[in-house]
Amino acid sequence: MKAAITATAKFLPDDVLTNQDLEKILDTSDEWIRTRTGIRERRILKDPDKATSYLCTGAARSILDKRGIRAEEIDLIIVATMSPDMLFPSTACLVQRNIGALNAWAFDLSGACSGFLYALTTGAQFIEAGTHRKVLVIGGEKMSALMDYTDRNTCVLFGDGAAGVLLEPSQDDEHGVMDAKLHADGRGSEHLCMPGGGSLHPATHETVDSKLHFLNQDGKLVFKSAVTAMADIAVDVMEHNGLDSDDISYLVPHQANKRIIQATAERMGIDMGKVAINIDRYGNTSAATIPICLAELDEAGKLTSGSNLILVSFGAGYTWGGIYLKW
Ligand code: ACO
Repeated sequence: MKAAITATAKFLPDDVLTNQDLEKILDTSDEWIRTRTGIRERRILKDPDKATSYLCTGAARSILDKRGIRAEEIDLIIVATMSPDMLFPSTACLVQRNIGALNAWAFDLSGACSGFLYALTTGAQFIEAGTHRKVLVIGGEKMSALMDYTDRNTCVLFGDGAAGVLLEPSQDDEHGVMDAKLHADGRGSEHLCMPGGGSLHPATHETVDSKLHFLNQDGKLVFKSAVTAMADIAVDVMEHNGLDSDDISYLVPHQANKRIIQATAERMGIDMGKVAINIDRYGNTSAATIPICLAELDEAGKLTSGSNLILVSFGAGYTWGGIYLKW
């Protein structure tokens, strides 16, 4: 039995932070950001009393509405996030409470920008095992909470948002999550991390003053690793499933940098018209980028029965992976 996606939805905060807005607070320019990354604007959740669970709850409610089911029917909620409301309880438990999914168990999964692919693979296994019939998989981030808005190297890249999917048993073995190849290499951990706030550097005046509670990265190094790993994994998944470029309906890549996306499409030999891109509007929303893309393709009616999708990601850890999904 395969796990099929039976509903998708996204939830973005209303406030828009444009490159022009950033020009006013940083030594940067719209031209630099657009040409290096492809980003024009990103969404920001400004309300300090709202966090990732608020965004994920919005996506979850919309998924239930679209599928026309009650929250009590959900068996499991997995939230992929690197910006949970709190270290504990999990953001997934807060979403479970907010939507009233009282028959579901719930947990967070920490896979950074690859979190959604890790979570989708995990959720699919519960369906494939036959033990669960309705699994909500959500990727959500309030990345603005991890940003140092005086650090132009990093803060221009990220935005806030959430999106997710409902997984259910496929009617046949021809649709759903067909293949997943996931990887990790902890040797890359120091190049992209937020050192503060965990048990190594708990919050003290010193750790806050040292800016350990902000996302920290070696952007150039991460770029080089990402561009190779995403292209390699995309080709690997294609070959493993006997697909050539003509068979692919859409590449749905993590949205970190438009140049990484273009390099991946080029290596796969597919036209940019078949690549889901929204980095210009949302920036990098980490675990939310891929489900936001899926929701937008779905809303636009571009996904029809039998569409072949390749999902690929790379992120902190390092983590990376690729999924072959048949709609
Ligand atoms: N505005 C203006 N100048 C800037 C800015 C900015 N916002 N940010 C950096 N610069 C400057 C730097 O200070 C540096 O100046 P220097 O040469 O005087 O020291 C210069 O621009 C660097 O320019 P480039 O080398 O052309 O920058 P590059 O092409 O490497 O692009 C970028 C930088 C966009 C950060 C790129 O390396 C990148 O996208 N890396 C991936 C990082 C990433 O996406 N991480 C997210 C998590 S992982 C993931 O999601 C894949």
